[in-house]
Amino acid sequence: MNAVPAPVAAASASSADLLLWVAIPYICLAVFVVGHIWRYRQDQFGWTSRTTQLLEHRWLRWGSPLFHLGAFMVIAGHVVGLAIPDAWTEAVGITEHTYHTTAVWAGSVAGVAMVAGLGMLCARRLLNRQIRRGTDRSDKLLFPLLSVTVVLGITATAAHNVFGAGYDYRSTVSVWFRGLFVLQPHPEAISGAPLLFRLHAMSAFLLFAAWPFTRLVHVWSAPIGYLARPYLVYRRRTTPTAATAVGGRTRSASGSRRAA
Ligand code: HEM
Repeated sequence: MNAVPAPVAAASASSADLLLWVAIPYICLAVFVVGHIWRYRQDQFGWTSRTTQLLEHRWLRWGSPLFHLGAFMVIAGHVVGLAIPDAWTEAVGITEHTYHTTAVWAGSVAGVAMVAGLGMLCARRLLNRQIRRGTDRSDKLLFPLLSVTVVLGITATAAHNVFGAGYDYRSTVSVWFRGLFVLQPHPEAISGAPLLFRLHAMSAFLLFAAWPFTRLVHVWSAPIGYLARPYLVYRRRTTPTAATAVGGRTRSASGSRRAA
C-alpha cells in the first residue's frame, strides 16, 4: 500500500468524538439487541422477508441474487478487514500488499454487485404500483438507509483505494471498530479518518439500530434446515383405481419429491 497510515492518536478524544464514536455506536448496538428480543416476542408471524415475488419476478430474479451474493462477499471482506488485526494476517504470510490488492479487487466486484442488485430491488419497488402500495414505513426507512450505507462504502473504496493514493483503514477504522466490542473504545482512532469512511461507519451503525424493526430480521432465519429436511410425501385425494394401486401403495404416494 502506498499510503501513509494515519497514526492512532494517543491524545484524549473530544466530547464530540466520544458522542459520535462511542455513545452513538453503543446506543445503536443496544437497540439492535433489545429490538430483536422485542420483535421476536411481539411479532413472530411478521418475522419474514415479506417477499413480493408473486407481484413481480423479472427484476427480482436478477436483483435479489446479485444483491445477496454481493452482500455475502462484502460481509466476508468486512470480517477480514475489520475484525482481524493486520498483525494476524501478516503472521500467516499475507503481506499488506496482497491483502490490499485482494481487498480492492474482491471488494469492488462485491460492491458493484451489491449496488446493481439493490438498484434493481429499489427500482421495482418504485416502479411497480402493487409493490409500491405494499411498501410500509419500515421499508421507507430501510431502503434509503441501506442504499446510503452501500453507496458510501463503495464510494470510499473507489475514491481512496481504487483511484486514490490508498488509505490504510486497518490501522484506524478497524482499531476503533474492534475496540467497541472489547469494551476498550478508541474514538481517536477513527476521528481522523477520511470523511467517506466516517460517514459510512456512522450510517452502518444507524442501519444496525433500524435492523430489528425491518424486514432485515429474515437474515437470522436463513432456511438452512431445507438442506436436511425430510422429503414431503404428496398423496392424491381421489380413491386409487386398480390400475394405479401397486402393492397396497398408490403411485402418487411412492412418487414423493421435495416441495418447490
Ligand atoms: C460499522 C460497520 C462498518 C464499518 C466500520 C465499515 C467499514 C468499511 C470500510 C473500511 C470499507 C472499505 C474497504 C476497502 O476499501 O477495501 C468498506 C467498504 C464497503 N462497505 Fe462497509 N463498513 C461497515 C458496515 C457496512 C454495512 C452494514 C454495509 C452494507 C449494508 C457495508 C457495505 C460496504 C460496501 C458495499 C463497501 C464497498 C465494497 C468493499 O470494499 O467491500 N458496510 N466498509
